Amino acid sequence: MQKELLMKFTLNGQKKEYTGQADLTLLKYLREHEKITSLKNGCSPQASCGCCTIELNGKATLACAIKMEKVAEGEIVTIEGLAQRTKDALADAFVAAGGVQCGFCTPGFLMRGKAIIDANPQPDRQEIRKALTPNLCRCTGYKKIEDAILMAAEALKENKTVEELILQADKSEPSSKAPHREQNTSRSEGRFRSSKGSGVGEREPKYDARKLALGQRPFVSDMSFKGMLHGALKFSDHPRAKVISLNIEKAKSLPGVQRIFTASDIPGDRYTGLIVPDWPVMVNIGEVTRYIGDVLACVVAENEDIAREAVELIEVQYEILEPVTDPHFALSEKAPALHPKGNLLSRTAIKRGDVEKALREAAYISQGTYNTQRIEHAFMEPECCIALPQNGQLQVYSQGQGIYEDRKALAKILSQIEEDVLVTLVPNGGGFGGKEDLTVQGHAALAALLLQKPVKIELTRDESIRMHPKRHPIEMDYTVACDKNGKLTALKADIIGDTGAYASVGMKVLERAAGHATGAYHIPAVDIDSKAVYTNNLPCGAMRGFGVNQVTFALESCIDDLCEQGGFERWQFRYDNALQEGHSTSTGQIITGGCGARDTLMAVKEKFQNAKYAGIACGLK
Ligand code: FES
Repeated sequence: MQKELLMKFTLNGQKKEYTGQADLTLLKYLREHEKITSLKNGCSPQASCGCCTIELNGKATLACAIKMEKVAEGEIVTIEGLAQRTKDALADAFVAAGGVQCGFCTPGFLMRGKAIIDANPQPDRQEIRKALTPNLCRCTGYKKIEDAILMAAEALKENKTVEELILQADKSEPSSKAPHREQNTSRSEGRFRSSKGSGVGEREPKYDARKLALGQRPFVSDMSFKGMLHGALKFSDHPRAKVISLNIEKAKSLPGVQRIFTASDIPGDRYTGLIVPDWPVMVNIGEVTRYIGDVLACVVAENEDIAREAVELIEVQYEILEPVTDPHFALSEKAPALHPKGNLLSRTAIKRGDVEKALREAAYISQGTYNTQRIEHAFMEPECCIALPQNGQLQVYSQGQGIYEDRKALAKILSQIEEDVLVTLVPNGGGFGGKEDLTVQGHAALAALLLQKPVKIELTRDESIRMHPKRHPIEMDYTVACDKNGKLTALKADIIGDTGAYASVGMKVLERAAGHATGAYHIPAVDIDSKAVYTNNLPCGAMRGFGVNQVTFALESCIDDLCEQGGFERWQFRYDNALQEGHSTSTGQIITGGCGARDTLMAVKEKFQNAKYAGIACGLK
């Protein structure tokens, strides 16, 4: 039995009394009981992301790490409780400095900025940088956030608005930008819109930036509907195991549980996928799981806590099987087939010229095996979806990256016509490719359709990492040759990408890896073989760069090696081999215009050659 306490405290200047669980987090209390959603849940209760920063007893505090019993007699301030002047200075500065992108992290940074300025009304950049350590941003980049805090501090110290500060700086330096300022701004109804009107060549503040900065533009997890139920997923306990039985009786009898869905409840196609329908929304009894993010059941209950408690009561009997974790083994005859068509998802081969002859005649050859790791997108907003019946149709609020793809997939799962599934994109708190595949949308839509009630399903940070696809780890066997003058003559590449349990867009990623294996260089003879391979690891799919980053690492490393062997200057070698008009790419396409590799190299020449340490990172594709 949870300990219940009476707690008295002040919230945004108002006296509050709360009788409830002593170990409830302040984050949950504020978001669920007080309906204050400006503070976000990015990792609760891990205190790792800073999205839930508030002020407790005058100090910036992470609300997910504070239990309600610690709040007794305390004073809590959220963005809503800030003095209007402070709120305006901070929000306007974040907008003007371009310190907001997806905005999921921004309210946390805004509260952190307030604490920094309280401690020192004239903070310097180093001080700000240090104080921002508990807060993470995945999309904006920290410099603009630092600029915003510097700008807000200046406005507050000068007793001016951010707009006045910018106009003043414009007057004193009409041709240059005001300090820390990103946008060409002046006040209008939208606050900080272009002073010259909008149009090509004008900088505009990001749409909804001020609302985002203040935490006023809802993300899916901030939304709720009357009578809304909450779902939680039962994931497979093993990457590869036959599901012998699934006992949901104990879970079903927990008070507050509305219904538990399993694979047999799905009215339409159980398999989904952006290109190949190989990914089951739920795994059925008698089937073999393929990774630890496979879903066996979906519990829907009155609230999330009950749903999660019920998930723990689901009993599964497995026949545990050895997982296939190495793509090389997956391709061997000894490996079990993880999918009906085997473990090779795709193969791309590109051959041009006589590679063997070029290698025999080469002056220098670089050969190496390069491995890149699996990478998590680490968007700040974990996946969340709400589905509800509305006027005979199903309305779905998705934070995915393709609402039409979502709709097509959901209609198939539910056996509905597409026109009866309305998907509204709620701009997400970061995706970077990691939200292209369906995760919780299928389960929320199924539950809402069958229960005819609004259902929300939200993943925890751990579940999010467990479920969604990552960047492919790729092993690349590279052989690159050049002549005695440093002209590239041949490239041989054997590329194996671990696409994990499901295809996602793995075949396209490995196709791109092959197509970009020669980077932005002209190499007349190539022999490239690129494979996407199924394993029981986490699925891999889209992420910025899409296979190109990986092969660029291998190729540029080989080029550095060739330069060392032949004593070539590293910038010049790249410039001499860069693609130009009239050249053909590795895939045989002739460049007829718009090839910027040499211009790019020229632009970075000085910095590259004068770099204090190793050089500068420069990936060309
Ligand atoms: Fe910071 Fe997106 S703006 S995480």
